[in-house]
Amino acid sequence: MAHDEWEHRFARRVRRARRYTPPGAWMPALPPGCVRLSAGYPAPDTVPVSELVDAAHRLMRREGDGPYQYLGSERAAQLPELLANRMRVRGIPAAPDQVLVTAGACQAIDLIAQVLLDDDTPVAVEAPTYMEALEVFRQYTDHILAYPVDGDGLMVEALADDLAQRRRRGLPLPRLLYTIPSSQNPTGTTMSPLRRRMLLELAEMYDFLIVEDDAYGELSFGSLIPPLASLDGWTPEPRRVVYVGSLSKVVAPGVRVGWIAGPRPLVEAAGWFKKDLGHPFAEAVVAEYLSAIDLDLRVRDLQRVYRQRAAWMELALRQHLPEGVSWFAPRGGYFIWVHTPGIHTAKRLPDALRAGVAYVPGRYFFQESGRPSDVPWLPGDEWLRLSFSYLSREEMDLGVRRLGDVLKKNR
Ligand SMILES: Cc1ncc(COP(=O)(O)O)c(C=O)c1O
Repeated sequence: MAHDEWEHRFARRVRRARRYTPPGAWMPALPPGCVRLSAGYPAPDTVPVSELVDAAHRLMRREGDGPYQYLGSERAAQLPELLANRMRVRGIPAAPDQVLVTAGACQAIDLIAQVLLDDDTPVAVEAPTYMEALEVFRQYTDHILAYPVDGDGLMVEALADDLAQRRRRGLPLPRLLYTIPSSQNPTGTTMSPLRRRMLLELAEMYDFLIVEDDAYGELSFGSLIPPLASLDGWTPEPRRVVYVGSLSKVVAPGVRVGWIAGPRPLVEAAGWFKKDLGHPFAEAVVAEYLSAIDLDLRVRDLQRVYRQRAAWMELALRQHLPEGVSWFAPRGGYFIWVHTPGIHTAKRLPDALRAGVAYVPGRYFFQESGRPSDVPWLPGDEWLRLSFSYLSREEMDLGVRRLGDVLKKNR
């Protein structure tokens, strides 16, 4: 059956999604030998392979077939408590029954969208923001509002101005705001403590919920700033913040363990829609692993590894990128957000791939890129995202040298 003939068979939600650029357009196939400066993957030698193997062995020796059964494993049942303990270290007093384990932060965001959004619910996001979250929100609502980010994270002052104007003019106000306040993807910036407080006040004033995506929250290069969720006066429910966590960056993305921590009614509703679409075996192995290791020590090691890699990449950028190109100094996480005045990074990508280097063009982190458009320049077209997390120093240097050559041509 031809593609178009399917149109009437799909649900409204799918028809809406099909009007957008297909998910993953930002990740083209790479030619052999291409240096992957695009990849937000953990450094290969930080993945705790042998510890996870040991954890799996211990688990099976102790629990036999349990982790393979529908009934699940005793150890996996402890995961919400282990995650709650971890959040407590960061000042978030969530109880285990306020935690829903999900298949990564992505499923957490998807479940939150499923239970909170109607077709026309206004959702506020950062501009730029994590493109997969944008893809998820687009599947549920047509109404996405975007607010700029600077070196101190989301520009809460701009948000406040716009909300006041919207209220004055009787325009719809966001019901939900999605933010990555710490080591943001793609900018690497961190929201200042003052802005965090202002954002919580705005949420009260305008009655919206904040989804705090804390995927990189522990991977800061300086002192850790308290998460929004820790400032939210749990009495005993949080007032405004729905916290999304992930073990992808501190353990490994392939275990697909993330979570929601928030008000019990929300966690319960998200659980209905999650059904049993989790990974009990992986959850059990991860819970066993977390019970056995010193996570503080591991997090400190990871901070050191990524701080070092970010410094190497900045050195390479200074050496190889043309005059006029600048970037936000990353405060943590995996990424550097690079400004390329006059250079259209989406149009330049095929040249870069041929030259053997991949990056993510900046447009994909903005809502406007979702729909085909004749506008020659979209927001983000003079920006690109590089990742320093995955590559060795030599690979990174080679990739940035190739990128510099591409950017210097036909400026
Ligand atoms: C901001 C942000 N949130 C969530 C994720 C994905 O997390 P998970 O692997 O737990 O789905 C990423 C991964 O790149 C991310 O950058």
